[in-house]
Amino acid sequence: MLNSAQVVTSGPIITIERHILEGQLAHPEATGVLTSLLYDIALAGKVIASQTTRAGLVQVLGKAGEVNVQGEEQMKLDVIADQTITRLNDHTGRLAVMASEEHPDIINISANYPTGKYVLLFDPLDGSSNIDYTIPVGTIFAIYQRQSTGGPGVLEDCLQPGRKLVAAGYLIYGSSTLLVYSAGNGVAGFTLDPSVGEFLLSHPNIRIPENPRYYSANQGYQLRWSKGIQAYTRWIQGEDGGRKGLSLRYVGSLVADFHRNLLAGGVFYYPADNKNPQGKLRLQYEANPLAFIAEQAGGYASNGTRPILDVQPERLHQRTPLFIGNRFLVEKAEEFIRLND
Ligand code: AHG
Ligand code: MN
Ligand code: MN
Repeated sequence: MLNSAQVVTSGPIITIERHILEGQLAHPEATGVLTSLLYDIALAGKVIASQTTRAGLVQVLGKAGEVNVQGEEQMKLDVIADQTITRLNDHTGRLAVMASEEHPDIINISANYPTGKYVLLFDPLDGSSNIDYTIPVGTIFAIYQRQSTGGPGVLEDCLQPGRKLVAAGYLIYGSSTLLVYSAGNGVAGFTLDPSVGEFLLSHPNIRIPENPRYYSANQGYQLRWSKGIQAYTRWIQGEDGGRKGLSLRYVGSLVADFHRNLLAGGVFYYPADNKNPQGKLRLQYEANPLAFIAEQAGGYASNGTRPILDVQPERLHQRTPLFIGNRFLVEKAEEFIRLND
């Protein structure tokens, strides 16, 4: 018999399945396919979590010996996470096409299986350089409706702007396993209770706090930033009557840095610099899904000059500068860039 400490200490116990289903009921035209797709992502999260929480024991630490399309060393868990998500979704008949950070091209659905109306883009393991140091890592996902009509999905289905997102979210594999998602009606967070293997509602209706606490940027690159971004950083640190009292927190896992700022208030920025003139983060499976979450939670995300969600993607692995968090902090970054760069 489960004691209360094992499940949820008080109040109603709401599983992610029930939450997704209730969200679907708000759309009479819904067919339940998106609900099932979100279930599959939660299941993929459970499987990946089972690997990340014992990575040191099951010899999945370290490099996979491959280099991905980004030219980055693939970690074993990158590959495991990628295979988990593709194998959970490639036969269900819910998707027309997928795309992953770990695959150079789109991932077509085999002719042996039916295609569906959704498109799934994902970063199977975000922050993978942190795996060997037991720093939280995550998965980021973005769901669109296919634009192509019939047959296998095509690249254009994966190059839709963030404004067209149907749902998006992320998982964090850290001190606990958390799934945060939005299907366009606000943001909710679910914590995995390993004793029952269920994601239980732990963060209903997430809203970014008005009064921010943190800023997150890799200041090791500060000398490579533009004048505007260096001035913005000094403003954030309180120079010239700027924003006092923001603490610097940066772990180098986008999902973990973003999540902290979403819950506590703050801004994360990974600007373009003279080494990464387009920025480092990827538009389609890092910036757009988190920008969707940020806006659904009352925040904002920009590439420094315009909303991330308005950018028309040109390439699957297109990179972008990213400023994301409290709207006024992100708009202040846009102002410093406009006035100084
Ligand atoms: P990924 O592991 O999916 O390649 O993402 C890593 C990204 C992101 O998680 C993080 O914000 C950023 O890389 C950290 O980059 P730096 O180490 O250059 O700060
Ligand atoms: Mn990533
Ligand atoms: Mn990744």
